[in-house]
Amino acid sequence: MALVNEHFLKLPGSYLFSDIAKKVNTFKATHPDQDIIRLGIGDVTQPLAPACIEAMHKAVDEMANKSTFRGYGPEQGYDFLTEAIIKNDYTPRGIQLSNSEVFVSDGAKSDTGNIGDILHQDNNIGVTDPIYPVYIDSNVMGGRAGTLQENGKWSNIVYMPCTAENNFIPQIPDKKIDILYLCYPNNPTGTTLSKEELKKWVDYALVNDTLILFDAAYEAYIQDPSIPHSIYEIEGAKKCAIEFRSFSKTAGFTGIRCGYTVVPKELTGTTPQGERISLNSLWNRRQSTKFNGTSYITQRAAEAIYTPEGKEQIKQTINYYMTNARIMKDGLVACGLQVYGGENAPYLWVKTPKGTPSWRFFEQILHETHVVGTPGVGFGPSGEGYIRLTAFGEHDDCIEAMKRIKNRD
Ligand code: MLT
Repeated sequence: MALVNEHFLKLPGSYLFSDIAKKVNTFKATHPDQDIIRLGIGDVTQPLAPACIEAMHKAVDEMANKSTFRGYGPEQGYDFLTEAIIKNDYTPRGIQLSNSEVFVSDGAKSDTGNIGDILHQDNNIGVTDPIYPVYIDSNVMGGRAGTLQENGKWSNIVYMPCTAENNFIPQIPDKKIDILYLCYPNNPTGTTLSKEELKKWVDYALVNDTLILFDAAYEAYIQDPSIPHSIYEIEGAKKCAIEFRSFSKTAGFTGIRCGYTVVPKELTGTTPQGERISLNSLWNRRQSTKFNGTSYITQRAAEAIYTPEGKEQIKQTINYYMTNARIMKDGLVACGLQVYGGENAPYLWVKTPKGTPSWRFFEQILHETHVVGTPGVGFGPSGEGYIRLTAFGEHDDCIEAMKRIKNRD
């Protein structure tokens, strides 16, 4: 008899975005003539940069030839990609890393979900609220979350509210947290932390021996040069933080799948007996056992992002999405709505009118305007009364969505 992992049974029936997809598909089935504009899940719409396409074609040709064919690659990623990552994403910011501290993967969702494999079940967890649901759901699966309470919070998770009232700046907890998730620029609120604010978290982590799991999947969208792109811009962060990065939003790789995780050599956790253990060694052991590397073709495409042409091409696409964000923000503000984010991130966090609950507002705009958003409460209790819209849509769709929302008034 195979016993199941009972922690899975504590989870809500389906993952947030699967739930939304189901609702939208039902709407589509019952309203087949309606033109739905999808600004819900943060999925990109623009094609890959020509530099990436060219690199992939070349890599495919290499695979067709006996002398250049490649089988299994290194589980941690090819040196050509880890070198390009370090040279372009870290060295210019004064951050020194070695190849063995960078682990190429199939994306930040997998890595932020899988990192729990190397962490003890008895750690307590802290999250900013609202938050990307993978952090919580994966801790529920790993038995760290406790039980779901009536207020929508898990009993063993410390929630740090981020709302308009505190300007979306989480307060440093007054208790010791073992593992803390930070995502900046933030999904879902689209807000950021200044260097000074981020430093407070690094200082807290160093004093309390806290491990920070820093998700920087949206760093490419930062427009304000004073905002940190990496947690390692803060002194001491290599001793307390793992950083996750993704090419999904940076370069339209949501379907290609590639990202990377930085686990510095000096970062340690402890055994229950207090012995310090390198997290880099544990993650390396985990990856080489359970992961067989990102495909060669994909890694060549990722490398091409760092060529001069690639850089210019992905910048243009990011500008395209950020233009959408500006148009949407202006449109929503003109409708009298309170809107946050969208300036250094591709997400707009919109306060629902007259305190309408998130799911009700989601249904309202779906039925009245055929625009799909993501209900804020799906990201955590402090998301109640908000809805998230993404700027990853087609330009004309974003304009049309704003028109429909305006005409709804
Ligand atoms: C989102 O909509 O929050 C993202 O698309 C989720 C993801 O990157 O997995």
